[in-house]
Amino acid sequence: LNTKLTIPSPLQKIEDPIYDKHQLEVFVKRDDLIHSEISGNKWRKLKYNFEKFKSGKYDAVLTFGGAFSNHIAATAAAGQIFQIPTIGIIRGDELNETSNRFGNVFIIPEGGANHLGVFGVSEIISELSFTPDHIYTAAGTGTTAAGLLAGSTTSKIHAVSSLKGENYLKNEIQNLLYYSVLDEAEVEMLLDRLDVIEDCHFGGYGKYNEELIEFVSLFATQHSIQLDQVYTGKMAYAFNRDLKSGKFKKGETIVLLHTGGLQGIT
Ligand SMILES: Cc1ncc(COP(=O)(O)O)c(C=O)c1O
Repeated sequence: LNTKLTIPSPLQKIEDPIYDKHQLEVFVKRDDLIHSEISGNKWRKLKYNFEKFKSGKYDAVLTFGGAFSNHIAATAAAGQIFQIPTIGIIRGDELNETSNRFGNVFIIPEGGANHLGVFGVSEIISELSFTPDHIYTAAGTGTTAAGLLAGSTTSKIHAVSSLKGENYLKNEIQNLLYYSVLDEAEVEMLLDRLDVIEDCHFGGYGKYNEELIEFVSLFATQHSIQLDQVYTGKMAYAFNRDLKSGKFKKGETIVLLHTGGLQGIT
C-alpha cells in the first residue's frame, strides 16, 4: 500500500544558533510530505487498518471524527487512492446502531486509535538512520506517542497534548500499548520513557494565542517548514521551551515528528 506515498518520509536537519549553543542536533521527520491529502500520522495509523480491511470480507471502512477532522479527510482520500469504499461519521457516539445501518463495515476508531494504528506508527522508528535521544510528537488520542514508544528502545518520547485535561493522555497511551504488546510488565517499561507535556495546549483544543502564531510563523521563515496551530505548532513550541529551560544534555539528538494536519490552518 505504500507505493503511492513518500515512504520513508524525509528526515530534515534544522539549524539555529541556539541548537549550536546547546550542542544539539535537531531534525524534523517530515511525515507531512507523505502525501498531500493523507498527511502525517494519518497514513501511519491507517495503513494496517486498511490491510486488515483488505484481508477481510467487509464492504466498506467506517470511521468517526469531529467536524474538520484530519482523520476523516485522510481516510476518505486514502479510500479514493486505494479504491476502498469509506464512510465517515462526524461525531458518532452511537457506534452499534451506526454500524448496523451501514452493514458489513470494518470500523476504525476515531483518530485511528487502535493497535493497528500503533503498529503503523512504530514503523517511523525503523526509517531513522540513528537512535535519537528524544522524539517530540503532538498528541490527541495518544496513538502516535504509543507507536513511537512501541517502536523504539531507548529514545525518550515527549507527547505534547493539544487538548486541555490532566492525566488522561498517559492512561490512553497505556491502554493503547496494552492492546499492542499484551504484556503489563512491558507496558510499564515502555512508559518509563514517556514524558507527557500537558501544559502547552494554549487553553485547549484549537485554542491559540499571538505568541503561538508568531512562533509558527518564525519557524516557517527560519526552516521553510509549515506547522499548524492545532497540533504541530504546540509540539515545536514545547520543544523550544524545553530547550531554553535546559532540559537537554550536550551532544543529544532530537527528532520533531511533523504529524501533518495543515487542514486546520487558518
Ligand atoms: C496533525 C496531527 N498531529 C497529531 C495528532 C494527534 O495524534 P494522536 O491522536 O495519534 O495522538 C493529530 C490527530 O490525529 C493530528 O491531526
